[in-house]
Amino acid sequence: MNDDLVRTESLTKVFYDESRGEVMAANAVDIACAAGEILGLLGANGAGKTTTLRMLSTVLRPTSGNAWVMGHEVRDAPERVRENLGFYSASTALYPKITPRETLRFFATVNRYPARKVEARVDDLIRRFRLEAYADTRVERLSSGMKQKVSIARTVAHDPPVLIFDEPTVALDVLNAIELRQIIAELRAEGKAILFSTHIMSEAEKLCDRIAILHGGRILATGTLNELREGTGLHYLEDIFVHFAGVRDEAEAEVQNVTPGSRA
Ligand SMILES: Nc1ncnc2c1ncn2[C@@H]1O[C@H](COP(=O)(O)OP(=O)(O)OP(=O)(O)O)[C@@H](O)[C@H]1O
Ligand SMILES: [Mg+2]
Repeated sequence: MNDDLVRTESLTKVFYDESRGEVMAANAVDIACAAGEILGLLGANGAGKTTTLRMLSTVLRPTSGNAWVMGHEVRDAPERVRENLGFYSASTALYPKITPRETLRFFATVNRYPARKVEARVDDLIRRFRLEAYADTRVERLSSGMKQKVSIARTVAHDPPVLIFDEPTVALDVLNAIELRQIIAELRAEGKAILFSTHIMSEAEKLCDRIAILHGGRILATGTLNELREGTGLHYLEDIFVHFAGVRDEAEAEVQNVTPGSRA
C-alpha cells in the first residue's frame, strides 16, 4: 500500500459551464499506482481522464479530495510534485524553431537533470524513442506523429520516477504505437510508476497491469484484467467496459425517470 508513488483520495473536480451548469468532471476518484506498475485509466470521451491526470500533475486545482505524488501533496507542494513526474497530454507544447535534440537538452536541463550527464541522456532518449532520423531537424518541419514522439520524450527527459501519459498513442500509426508501448513497458521495467489513459480496449489489455474504468467522472471498477473478468464473468475488456458503463447509464436513467431505450 505504501509502495504507491501516486495516490488519490476522493479526488473531485467540478467545472462550471454556462450552458451545462455544474459539470462533475471527476467525482471522488480513488486510484493508486506503485513503482514498476502501469495503471490504465480506461474511459470514453468526456469520462474525466484528462481532468484527473491534470489534477495529479498540478495543472488543475482539485475542487475537493486530494492527491499525492511520491508523498508530496498536489496542493501543498506542487513544485515537489512536478519535479517527480513527467506529464504528457495533447497540450504538451514544443518550440517550433529548435530541433528535437535541443528540445530534449532544454527540458532535461530546466528540470535539473545533472548537467554533466545531459548529453548522454539526450543521446539515449533519441535512440530509445527512435528519433535519430530527424533529431537535428527543426520541430516545425516534423509530421504530427514525429512531434508527438518528441513531446513524449521531452516529458521523460529528466528521468522522473512517476510518468503520466494522457492518451499518448492517439495520433500515432500502428507501428509507432507499438513502439511507444514497448518503450512504456521498458520504463515500467526500470521501476517507474506509470499512469496511462486510453479509450482503446486492446491497448489497455496489452499494456496495463491494472485497469481503472472511469465513466462519468467516477471509477466504476479497478483490477487486473483477470480480476475484472472474474468479477463480471466476461472475457473481453470491451464487454467488461460496457457492462460497467452500461449499468451505470441505466441507473442514471432510472434516477431521471427515463428508460434507456427512449434516449437518443
Ligand atoms: N475547462 C472546462 N470547463 C468546463 N467543463 C470542462 C472543462 N474541462 C473539461 N470539462 C468537462 O469535464 C468532463 C471531462 O472531460 P475530460 O477532458 O476530463 O474527459 P476525457 O476523459 O479526457 O475525454 P477525451 O477522451 O475526450 O479526452 C467533460 O464533460 C468536459 O466537457
Ligand atoms: Mg482527454
